[in-house]
This record gives sequence, structure tokens and C-alpha cells, in this order.
Amino acid sequence: MKYSFIDQKGTFTVQHPQPYNLYFPLTDRNGKLLSSISPDLAGDIKKDNEHFLTPPASIEDIRSNLLCRREFFIKTNKKLLRLSEPAEDTITAGLLYHTITKKAAGLVIEITNFIPHDIPCEVMQLKVTNTSKKPMLIRPTSFIPLYGRAEKNLRDHRHVSSLLNRVELEKYGIVLKPTMIFDEQGHKENTSFYFVLGYEDKTIAPKGQFPTLEYFYGEGDILSPDAVVKNISCARKKLPCFDGKEACAAFRFRDRTLPPHSTATYCLIMGIEEQRKNIETIFQQLNTPEKIEKCLTETTQYWHTSLAAVDFDFKDKNFTNWLRWVKLQPTLRKLFGCSFLPHFDYGKGGRGWRDLWQDALALSFTEPEKAKDLIVSNFRGVRLDGSNATIITKEGGFIADRNKISRVWMDHGVWPYLTLCSYIHRNADINLLLEETTYFRDHQLKRAKEIDTGFSQKDFLLRTQDNRTYTGSILEHVLIQNLVQFFNVGEHNIIRLENADWNDGLDMAAQKGESVAFSFMYAHNLADLCLLLEKLKQETKSVFLLKELAILLDCSNEPIHYSRYEEKQARLERYFEKTKIISGEKIEITLEALIHDLREKSNHLNQWLQEKEWLAEGFFNGYYDNKGNRVEGRARGTVTMLLPSQVFAIMSGVAGNEHIRQIWRAIKRYLYDTRTGGFRLNTDIKSTYMDFGRAFGFSYGDKENGACFNHMVVMLAYALYKRGFIKEGFEVINSIYRMARAPKACLYPGIPEYFNTEGRGLYSYLTGSASWYMYTLFEEIVGIKFVFGDLVIEPKLIAANFSGRAIEVRCRLKNKAITVIFEGGKKKSGVYLIKNVRLNDQSVTTGTNRCLIRKEVLERITNEEILVHVYLD
Ligand code: G1P
Repeated sequence: MKYSFIDQKGTFTVQHPQPYNLYFPLTDRNGKLLSSISPDLAGDIKKDNEHFLTPPASIEDIRSNLLCRREFFIKTNKKLLRLSEPAEDTITAGLLYHTITKKAAGLVIEITNFIPHDIPCEVMQLKVTNTSKKPMLIRPTSFIPLYGRAEKNLRDHRHVSSLLNRVELEKYGIVLKPTMIFDEQGHKENTSFYFVLGYEDKTIAPKGQFPTLEYFYGEGDILSPDAVVKNISCARKKLPCFDGKEACAAFRFRDRTLPPHSTATYCLIMGIEEQRKNIETIFQQLNTPEKIEKCLTETTQYWHTSLAAVDFDFKDKNFTNWLRWVKLQPTLRKLFGCSFLPHFDYGKGGRGWRDLWQDALALSFTEPEKAKDLIVSNFRGVRLDGSNATIITKEGGFIADRNKISRVWMDHGVWPYLTLCSYIHRNADINLLLEETTYFRDHQLKRAKEIDTGFSQKDFLLRTQDNRTYTGSILEHVLIQNLVQFFNVGEHNIIRLENADWNDGLDMAAQKGESVAFSFMYAHNLADLCLLLEKLKQETKSVFLLKELAILLDCSNEPIHYSRYEEKQARLERYFEKTKIISGEKIEITLEALIHDLREKSNHLNQWLQEKEWLAEGFFNGYYDNKGNRVEGRARGTVTMLLPSQVFAIMSGVAGNEHIRQIWRAIKRYLYDTRTGGFRLNTDIKSTYMDFGRAFGFSYGDKENGACFNHMVVMLAYALYKRGFIKEGFEVINSIYRMARAPKACLYPGIPEYFNTEGRGLYSYLTGSASWYMYTLFEEIVGIKFVFGDLVIEPKLIAANFSGRAIEVRCRLKNKAITVIFEGGKKKSGVYLIKNVRLNDQSVTTGTNRCLIRKEVLERITNEEILVHVYLD
């Protein structure tokens, strides 16, 4: 399957799309209504898990379940057309609308679906044009299955809950309001209105309706319903037999003779509202084709503007357009969470902790103003034991776990620091470290090892023993996350894997598992934080921290031997015990002493990892399993290698250049898939691995077991670029674009979560790889960085990055628009070096591959536009 871009705004077309696997997201700016739509009009429309307007559609339903489709029948004197069936289809899609054009029986039918950016309803507009030479009689009937309840009722009292259905027939459509919400844990009164309204042209109401499946199908079925085939008469008012039945919005529009070249327009408006009067308001906003046209234009405009803060023009229409969709992905994940698209049939629309911070990473350069609030507010999810609430609801509230399971992901403490650090540099906001916020407290203590049975607070705020809400600085939160983990080691003196790390699939080694992969990153954070603290010294000599934290700052306070894992464990236990109840007292500590302590820890960990975990095979071991056995390396004649272990070794700086050279060779040897040209997450372990994780129960090549998993692939590229391995970084990052564009990927533009062994892309739109992709492109490839507010331009470009002579990047710094134009010379190989740089036409002194423009210089510029020309050679 191949798509082609038809303009510079990301709009693309697809001829004869293959329905399976393909779906397109629709939503409004606040994510109040969420839809998916496939080439055969399948997909669902919902507000959240409790409110589905149409039946919930998972990936297989998209292809196989006819009751998950938006349907429209047109009966002509010769033929009965069912518009969900392919008919020389062409799809045209843009930000954020989806149009299918069909040709059949002398008609051209254009079906457009979108959700207005500011109105939570899905609009479906059909334009039916007679392209034959003769007048044509048409009889149109629309059909939208109505579900009107919670997703779980699909297999929990499906029939019983249909008995609650009550429909009301109105002039323009139908309103379904079930009497109750059926839930054996506690039935509730239903307050939601599920509606579909429809009209023809300007603004002719339907002739009548078939409001239940029973009435619509008659003796027939969904493929040939009696309502359409036998032309049974439609209802104009409610009949008692409509109560308690599976409902549908099936409207009969009037019979009509279409003269040649004339068009009839039909429009459906679908949504879920809590206030009945809102339905009327929505209808008034959309009750003519002109209003719909205007609304569609405003909607596409809205999405374009929302993406304008950072823009890349690589002078390659395909790549530049593709990037627009990648840029949209973090926003989609913010609105959909990790749920509500056909592959994402889990969760409740919240985002996980890791995902939240990654999305904030993208925000820190696309919308820095919003990023600050988000960052401060997210830190409220941290517990004193260094773990955190894992789910963040759309409203910004925290939940311990989506499924009420007590568990802890050991990598969670790593991500906040990375995002915070990027934000501080970008905005020269070192004082953010001193801003105070609350902590999360629930029944889980000691990283889910102990339960506080007496805990009964509803607000989940950490309180002191005298019931005051405790607040601590952002710095204190970050310290807790990273210090606790330094001590939280297993028998190999490596940080414990607990219930999993980045790879959610490594979830069966909670007792003895250890993660070297993320020990690298904790070593990194401890060292990197010192750089921020050095800067903070310009503001203050000392900071105030939770008194009990001194237990973990052992260098100036009863030092322990870091090489003895038991000593670390004992020290951590002491801290856990002391922080079950806190007085709220703080101690003052000089930044000098703090930096010394963190450096000692980081140096020790760094050295330990280099010495103990480097394998003779030329790469790092990244894990110990639940028997305490090493996972990677050569054993029983085969080599096991995992990509994350190498990525974080490189990214953290623990791997030296010689290590990286060897690791790269090993990656190419063991993880590079010559058939697809992608990089796999791991070698084939060829059996389940009950002492390690569920991932190895998945078929090899899918999901977290050996797929080309883009989040990790893009982090590999980032790490390689960061460490100056530019050719290798390019090869890796380019593999994603190449695979995503390949016809066998069967994708619309964007990055999917992973590519399987056949090169097919799965799980579109909501992957965290998009944030990392943009971050890598911006910070590493074109190399636009901010270091405490100074603008640093350090491009890592090679000839293959250029399609034309120049690459243009636009971004914003506070209220100024910055355009950076990289002009490449005629280089055939190697990395471009900077020849000279001009800032608003003035020459700037520069190094060979790095140009620094001071914050003060940027601030002195009074124009709102800053133009930087970087001439490369
Ligand atoms: C998903 C999860 C992410 C997790 C990854 C690997 O990745 O969202 O938190 O680390 O799987 O298990 P995504 O493609 O969404 O980034």
C-alpha cells in the first residue's frame, strides 16, 4: 500500500487501501470525543471507557465485525450499494479529517468524517453525485449502530444492558438514553445522551427511522436488512417495541431523482452529551453544508497552527510532510492516552508515567510555556520511596496503578530528570530546581513491598505526622528518585529490576532480577545533576532537604562501602523505615557537599558497570533474571543480545568510544535484520522465559520480543548521535523512515510502535517514539540546543540529510521566532563542518562544528524574528 502527499500540508491520498491494519484517528482539541475510522468506515466513537456511542472496535473488529461500521445504503433502480464496501476507493486525509471517494453504479460518492476542533461530535458528510448521462433515482438509508454504554458490557451482560435502552425519535434524528448503567458493583442512573442527527442538503429532515436492529434487519441481516431490501416503512414516532432493544441510528432519506452531474448531500452528526440542550446547540452550529465546510476549514487550520511552533523543511516533500504527522503524534497521545485506537484496546485513556515524561520532553521545545506547569505538576506523583503513581488521568490526577496491582517499574525515576534538564537548559530556568511541590502517598510503602493497611486518605497527598501537607523542592524530588535507586540493588550490586523497566514485557523477575540497562542511566543522572547543581551555586550556596534524606547522602554522614550490596540494602531499609512517617523537618546541606556525594556515587556505579558487565562478546550484559543468572552473552552455543542494554550504555556515557565501536559491530551482527533493514529489540531466545518476562511468550518479531521497536530504535539513534557516531546514527534513524514509507508497512504517515518480521507497522499514532524522534532531529541532527539559555548550534549533518541545498528549521524562543537555515556545500562523504554563521546578517564567531550565541545577544535583538544562516562545508 502506498500513499502520496498532494500538498505541503501533510495531506495524502491512497488508492485502493487495504482495510486491515489501517485506521485513522479523529478528535477535537481537548480530546472530548475520540474516534477511529478505517477505509471501510469501521472504527468506534467514544468519550471514555464508560461511554461508547458505537460498539467498541479492536483491531480485528476493524476487518471482521460488520457491526463496528458506519454504514450507508443507496438503492438505485439497478443496484443496492453498501458504502462500507470497497468501490474504487481513494482516501484523502489531512489534519484531522478523512475522506473516502467511491465510484459505483454511475455515482461518485465522497464521504468525509471529522471532529470539529472545538465541538465534541463526529461529522460525517456524504456527497452523492450522478456522473452518468441519465437521471437516476436513489433511495438513501444511513445506518450507525448505537451501543450507548461502557466497553466492559461487551462481554458483561451485553443483552441485559440492552434492556435498559430507551430511544427518542426526533425530527432530525435519535437520542438514546439508557435508563441505568448496569454494573453489579453498584448500578447507577444513567445521565448520558447518545445521539445521531441527520439531514439532507439544506436542511431537510429524514423521512423516518429504523431505531432498533430488530426493526432494521427484519428477517434479514446487516448485509441485506429488510429496511433497505424490502423497503419496509420507517417509523416517525416512538413505538413501545423500541424499548429495551439494541439500538441503531438508521435514517431513511427521501427518494430522489438526481439529474446528471447534480449532487445530493447528506450529513450525520454524532456525539455523547450530558446536557440535552447541548445537542440542539451542536445542531445549530452544523445544520447546513456551508457551516460544515467552514467548520472543516477552521479545524484543519487549528491543527496546522498547533503544530507550527517547530517546523522542519528538508526540501524533500515526502520527508517534510511525513514529519508533520510525526509531530502530531505526541499531541494525539496526550489526547488519547495509550488507549482508544484499534490496536490500543487497553487502558482507560490515562498515560503511564514514562509516557507522560516523554511527551513533556517534546513539549519542552514545542510549547515550553506549557511544559513548565506540566513538569511541576507531574512531580506531585513521586513517593518518598522514589517510586511513583503510575497512571495520570486526563484531568491530571494520579492513580497508583491502572489495574489496582501493586507494582513498581524501576526505570521510572530516570525520565523526569531528563525532561527537567532539557527544560531548564531551554529556558535558562535553574531556579525551577528550588520550586516546591507536594508528594504522592498511598497504601504502598517500600516500593510496593509493604502495605499500609491504615491508610485511608482520599487526596493521596503526603502529610507529616502532625497532618500538614508536606512539600519539597523539585530538586529534592529528583534526588529521592535517583538516590533511592542507587541503594536499591540485588546480589550483583546492580539496581533491581522490580516489576519491569522500560520494556514492560520484562515483568517476571521481581525477586532476583536486576537491570544493568537502567543502572547505566541512574549513573548518568547522578553525574549530570551535578552540572545543574554547579550552575545553581550561582544562585545559592546551600539547599534545604528532607531531614531523612541525609541517610542516603552517606558521604558526609556514615559512609558505606558501595561495592557491598548488603550495605546498600541495609542503608535503604533504614531510609524506608524512617520515612514511613515524617516530621517534615528539613536540613541544610551545602551544594558543595551534595555534589561531592553524587559524584562519588556516580563514579562508583560507572566503574562497577564497566568492569563487571562488559562481555567478551563485545557488548554489555543488561539484565539478571529471577534466578540471578546473567541474561546476555554466549550460553549453550547461542548469543543473546538485547538492544536496550546497549542503548543506555551509550546514552549514559558509561560506554567509552572503543566500547561503542564494538557494540555497533555486535548490533549489526546480531540485531540488524537484513530482510527489512531494521534493528531488532533482541535476538531470538526461542522459548518462553518464565524467569524473566511475558515478552518471550510473544511470537518472535512482535512487540517487546524482537520487533523493530521504534521507541528503542530512535533512542539508539539519539545515543549514537550524542556520542558523535554520526554515520551510524543516521543509518539507525533513517531505518525508521524507510520502513514506515515502504508499501509493505501498510501505514499512513507517522511512526508506528513497531515493525514486525514482515515489515508491517503496528500500533499507529500513539507511540512515544515520535517525541524522541523530534527530539533527536532537533537537538542532535540539526543540533539546535539551548545550554542555560545560550543558543548552541552543533549540526551533525551528512550529505544524505540534504535533498536540496538547504535545510530550514523554525522554532520559538519565548516570544521570538527563530529560523535557522543550514546551507550545505557539495559534500560527498563525511560530516559537514561549519564554515561561517550569520545572525540577522551579522557575522558570528564560531568553532568548526559548534557555534554559540549567548543568551544576552539573543535578548538584545529587538526584532521578533531571528534569522541564523549556517554555512556548511
Ligand atoms: C510502549 C509503552 C512504553 C514502553 C514500551 C515498551 O511504547 O508506551 O511506555 O516503554 O511500550 O514496553 P510506545 O511505543 O508507546 O512508546
